[in-house]
Amino acid sequence: MSTATEPLRALLLEGIHSDAVASLEKNGYAVETVDRALDEDELTARIAGVHMLGIRSKTTITDAVLAAAPELLAIGAFCIGTNQIDLPATLQRGVAVFNAPFSNTRSVVELVVAELIALTRRLFDKNSLMHAGVWDKSAEGAHEVRGRRLGIIGYGNIGSQLSVLAESLGMSVFFYDTADKLALGNARRCASMEELLAVSDVVTLHVDGRPGNSGLFGEAEFARMRPGSLFLNLSRGFVVDHGALRSHIESGHLAGAAIDVFPHEPKGRGDEFVSELRGLPNVIITPHIGGSTEEAQQDIGQFVAGKLQDFVATGNTALSVNLPTVSLPAPPEGHRLTHLHRNTPGVLATINGILADHDVNIEGQLLGTRGEIGYVITDIGTRYTSDVIEQLRGLPTTVRLRLLS
Ligand SMILES: NC(=O)c1ccc[n+]([C@@H]2O[C@H](COP(=O)([O-])OP(=O)(O)OC[C@H]3O[C@@H](n4cnc5c(N)ncnc54)[C@H](O)[C@@H]3O)[C@@H](O)[C@H]2O)c1
Repeated sequence: MSTATEPLRALLLEGIHSDAVASLEKNGYAVETVDRALDEDELTARIAGVHMLGIRSKTTITDAVLAAAPELLAIGAFCIGTNQIDLPATLQRGVAVFNAPFSNTRSVVELVVAELIALTRRLFDKNSLMHAGVWDKSAEGAHEVRGRRLGIIGYGNIGSQLSVLAESLGMSVFFYDTADKLALGNARRCASMEELLAVSDVVTLHVDGRPGNSGLFGEAEFARMRPGSLFLNLSRGFVVDHGALRSHIESGHLAGAAIDVFPHEPKGRGDEFVSELRGLPNVIITPHIGGSTEEAQQDIGQFVAGKLQDFVATGNTALSVNLPTVSLPAPPEGHRLTHLHRNTPGVLATINGILADHDVNIEGQLLGTRGEIGYVITDIGTRYTSDVIEQLRGLPTTVRLRLLS
């Protein structure tokens, strides 16, 4: 752990929000920032001695990177997704991972609301015509959203918040989710996606990125949508067959669409965007900006920086992406041991046996397991000897032992 002359080191990549930097510096971390992603070689060369790593979606964390970072305690994904991180490797090496699952929920929902009104009024078509000098004042194909039926597929953080805002606009909300979800307000649950497609004037996808959702929405699903209905996807690009969407827009079966996520997205700002959806009428295409607001970035910065610091200081893992959830209030005094181990029968008894053999009294203890990994926080009131630590660290099941005092 750190001493007065050796503060803990944090390396933050990809231009993470300045609130995260300020929070870490205020709490004594030595923070190094880089405004872009680093590739494996660059990161491997810079990561030795770093205790906390912050990334966004464009930095890939491989086992080789982790191997070069024996001091690394935690990785903060200052975004929602964690596909860019080799999570099994982080477990093998005892590195906690945190992300910001809720910080941009509101931003996505507001964009969906804006787009469903814009599509329903054919706003972008009118706007394009005006810029081309065409005055096309007509009510044809333009509607109010009030009274229309919104079908939400995936009623998680985003889907359920959208449900509340859409009802406040006077829409009737239907939803379909594979998990049991509480219907908010007057929203009605559909027993199947087919049932939802049959009743909805607007269909919007908010499913998560599990591999099984690849190709979830294709020709058959578009064909089941009501004539003249609208389609939105702000979830994941690989969920939708864009060729099928194009043909349903061109045939006039669908009245419009808004798409924010694509199966193949350009790597950098300014790169060419290639898609079947370019040039279609009443189709809004945006460069994956659903969650991209300054408010969301600020919230992500504060949220993830807070989670990382709490984990390093207390060992608590609430909302960790990879570790079991274990949160024990910090003891007023005394010492804390955290032990990450392979989840086999008898580990807790072995740990407690070692403590008992050395007359170490346990003042608080909490164990959590998740698949093959177990994590136990133990508060002890007396001083421990190096022998205790050596024995705990030497257990064949130990992945990582930390001493927090
Ligand atoms: N466009 C953006 O910038 C942006 C920003 C944030 C999140 N997202 C994406 O939005 C999506 C939703 O995010 P969230 O925070 O609400 O996730 P979440 O995990 O809270 O909710 C996802 C919901 O979808 C349900 N689901 C999964 N597969 C399903 C299926 N095949 N049919 C029906 N329901 C299914 C799950 O049970 C869950 O309730 C994610 O894919 C996320 O990556 C996009």
